[in-house]
Parts: sequence; C-alpha cells; structure tokens
Amino acid sequence: MSDKAAVKVEHQRFFVVDFGSQYAQLIARRVRELGCFAEIVMPQTLSERIGEATGVIFSGSPWSAYDDAAPKIEAEVYDRGIPILGICYGMQLTTHLLGGEVDHAVAREYGPARIEVLGDDTCLFDGLDQELDVWMSHGDRVEQLPEGFLPIAKTDSAPYAAIKHSSKPVYGVQFHPEVTHTPHGTAMLKNFLFGVCGALGDWTMRSFIDEACEKIRAQVGETDHVICGLSGGVDSTVAAILIHKAIGDRLTCIFVDNGLLRKGEAEEVLVNFRDRYQIPLVFAESGELFLDALEGVIDPEEKRRRIGHTFVDVFKEHAKGVENAHWLAQGTLYPDVIESQSAFGGASVTIKTHHNVGGLPEELGFELLEPFRDLFKDEVRKIGRELGVPELFVERQPFPGPGLGVRIAGEVTRENVAVLQEADAIVREEIEREGDHKALWQYFGVLVPVKTVGVMGDERTYENVIAVRAVESTDAMTAEWADLPRRVLARLSSRIINEVRGVNRVVYDISTKPPSTIEWE
Ligand code: XMP
Repeated sequence: MSDKAAVKVEHQRFFVVDFGSQYAQLIARRVRELGCFAEIVMPQTLSERIGEATGVIFSGSPWSAYDDAAPKIEAEVYDRGIPILGICYGMQLTTHLLGGEVDHAVAREYGPARIEVLGDDTCLFDGLDQELDVWMSHGDRVEQLPEGFLPIAKTDSAPYAAIKHSSKPVYGVQFHPEVTHTPHGTAMLKNFLFGVCGALGDWTMRSFIDEACEKIRAQVGETDHVICGLSGGVDSTVAAILIHKAIGDRLTCIFVDNGLLRKGEAEEVLVNFRDRYQIPLVFAESGELFLDALEGVIDPEEKRRRIGHTFVDVFKEHAKGVENAHWLAQGTLYPDVIESQSAFGGASVTIKTHHNVGGLPEELGFELLEPFRDLFKDEVRKIGRELGVPELFVERQPFPGPGLGVRIAGEVTRENVAVLQEADAIVREEIEREGDHKALWQYFGVLVPVKTVGVMGDERTYENVIAVRAVESTDAMTAEWADLPRRVLARLSSRIINEVRGVNRVVYDISTKPPSTIEWE
C-alpha cells in the first residue's frame, strides 16, 4: 500500500478490532452507516494506535479467549480512557484479560435469544424496552466477571448477556448487535458511539467528496494527467466523475470493449457517459483481439490470464496517446485493502484470481490514484448519488472483469458469445420486468456447452443449455440462490428457448456459495 496514494480522511476514527470474525466488516459498515468513520485494525497494532481512536469495538472470533494461540491485545488498552465495546469474543477476551473467568458453555448458544436489561443505568440500551430480542452465536461464556464489572443484561440461561465496568468506559455484549437478527442492534451501537464515545457523526458523503477532491488535487499536482479505465460499473464511473470534479479535463477515461460485454452494454455505457459528461473518453474497440487470444482455451484461470494480458496491451497502447499521464485511477475498495491484512497473516487458497480493471500490474508504470481505498461499495454508491451519477451506473449489478468469458463454461467462441448475449439479455429483462431485481446481488445467464436433446415442432434438436443464476448477497463472500417467482422462471425459459437459436434447455442454478461460487468459472 502506498501511503502517498491513499486518501486519508481527517475525522473522528472508530476502530473495529478484527479477531478473525466473519462480522468485522459488517460492524465497520454499521458504524459508518451511523455517520462515524470506522477502520478495521488488527489486534497486534491496537496498543500502538489506540490513541487515534474515539472509540473501539472488539469483534467476535472463532477462537476461545483462553486458548494460548488465540489473538490477544495488551490489557493496558483498558486503562487509556478510550471507550471499548467487546462483542461476543470481544467481551470474553475482556473478561479473560482482566481476571474474570470464561469457559465452554454447557450448550452452544446459537440463534435468537431474549435479554432482560438490568438496573437503571441502561447506557447501551437507552431508549429501548427492558426486554429485547438479540442474536447469539457462541460456544464459550463468561462464568465470572472481572473485578469492577457488573451485569447490565441477562438471559434466562446466561447471567452476563451484557456487562460494563463501574467506572471505566468498558462494555461487553455476549450477543451480536451488528446483525439484522438483533432488531435493535443498531440502536445499541448508536448508544455506544454517541452516548458513550461522544461521536460527532462527522462521516458524511458530502464531506468525503470535498476532502477527496482536495486530496486528489494535492496528489496529482497542477500539470499531471490521470487515466481511468472505465468499465461501466459503479466504482470506475463514480471514480471518474469525482476525479473530473477535482481536476477537470486532466482526466482521460479509457473504455475497452473486450467483446465479452453484455448485449448492448458498450453502446449503453458510451452513450450515457458521453451524453452526460464532457470527460475525454477513448473507446478501444478490441473484441477481436480478445476472442483471438481465447481460441482453444478451456481452463478458467488461463482465460483470465489471457484476458488480463490482452487488456494490459490494449490499455497501454491507448494510454500512450495521453500526454503527461502519470496517474492511473483505480476503484480499489476498503474490503480489497483489508483482505490483504488478514488477522493472523494466514494465506488463503486462491479460488479465482479476480482480474479486472482494478488489477492492472505495476509494469504500466503509473502512480496509483485510489480515491475509494477507505470506502465500502454502498458508500461509493452514495457518493455516486450525491454527485448526481444516474441510477443506471449507480445500481449496476457487479460484472466480472473477464465478462462473459467466465460465463461460458468451456471454450469462448464468437458463436457462444452471441448466444449467451441474447439469452442473458432475456434473463435480465424478465427479472427486471418483475421489479424486485434491486434485492438481488447478481442475475445472469451462463452458457453450458453441453448438448442435450429436445423436440421443437416435430423436429429433434440437439443444442446447448443455458443456466440462469440469480443470487442474493451482501458482499459476494456468501450467497443464496434467489427464490424467483415461478412465473418469472417460466417466462424467461420460454423466451430463451423460443428466441435464442442454439439453446433448447434452460435450468435454474440452485447452489449456494459456499460451497459453489457465484460465477461458474
Ligand atoms: P465468485 O464467482 O468468486 O464471485 O463467487 C464473487 C464476485 O466476484 C465477481 N467475480 C469477478 N470480478 N473479475 C472480477 O472483476 C473476476 O475475474 C471475477 N470473478 C468473479 C463475481 O461476479 C461476483 O460478484
């Protein structure tokens, strides 16, 4: 990470310490939704950095606080006067480090529970009922509180569902306020941030835009030019508009048509972008190059590699024409940044290399301009709206960099691309016609180049299969297949088979992620 390129935001900061929980990012998002700037930090850096924080939240963890190998922090952080809220493992760790007792619960508590708020000093529960539904997910529990702590909520089976220190601003909850299954969880987090920490709520998209523009100007200077690879997706579009606001025509966008876009997509992006914005835009119509490079390739990673290389070649060629171009804008998001700093430094297995415009190699020789390094995708969307970017871009479903190349199982041929473009357009049209598509993360067609037998009229057919994939997800890490109404499935199936030559069967993909992935390749 280059500090030079990072756009830092001068606001109150709230740390979310990630002890390896699947919910750390979710906690950070909740905090930001409440107008407070949350940063995810690793336990080993907390002591050194805690002075920067207005408040700290400890995440859950798959570990037990009493395990030797469990992620720990130094106990001195509790004496710094900075408010701390421990969630689940966070509360158990606090208990363990400060001399209380944590042990295996007799029965693992997973799912809904009801807490009863105790005493008058309700702090975290201000403004809420005395009995509240919450979501539990833990195998350990606090058996004995450390000195100076008292319970502020209990359940029928657990005497310490929430705790606080009698004089220090240190709190703990056994349940998960960050998940939607805890209906008043956001109110509890708000009470902690505003009531306990004295949050100002100074993290707004408007202030981000003003500051980001200033920082872009400071980084790029008075004469340098910036190049932005436009994909039509929300990140690159909003980045382009923001950078253009900051430095005007010293930004040039390059839009590469790799021949693997969805039906009508290149025209749609070009027309809408050019009609609305006076931003210099180079259109690289390079489909043939990409399709040639993919000839005979079956392996998904090899496809990605070839698409990636061709992209770099094309991009380089067109960037040459832009004078003084020293900077490359990338839509790197906060989850990409934190993914590279896993809590325990463990390398995870590469399932797929996500090759896209946001992954151009260093050999291009540009400095990176990454205005969204600190943002989650929903924040980029908000910024887009604030900047008046049309919904067409802001609400666009994610589309992989290698495009239809990874939605055609097996070899990518011109014919296959044409078939999938038609079928996929019908999938999108029919799902969008129903009007509930905004609840879906992605919905698209996949070409399965397996021939199956059908009968049309009195004729035998022997043609390809189209799989329809529609999923719900919040971050693409996990996904559920969408329960599309039968009438939608019936409509799109009959339209695809009737209208798309080369397809005689449509199937609906009912696999969740994990163990499947969203894309087929
Ligand atoms: P998977 O298939 O891994 O996808 O469950 C998770 C999310 O990532 C997108 N995806 C990609 N995006 N380049 C990209 O830019 C890629 O190579 C790529 N592969 C998958 C996918 O669309 C989903 O949103």
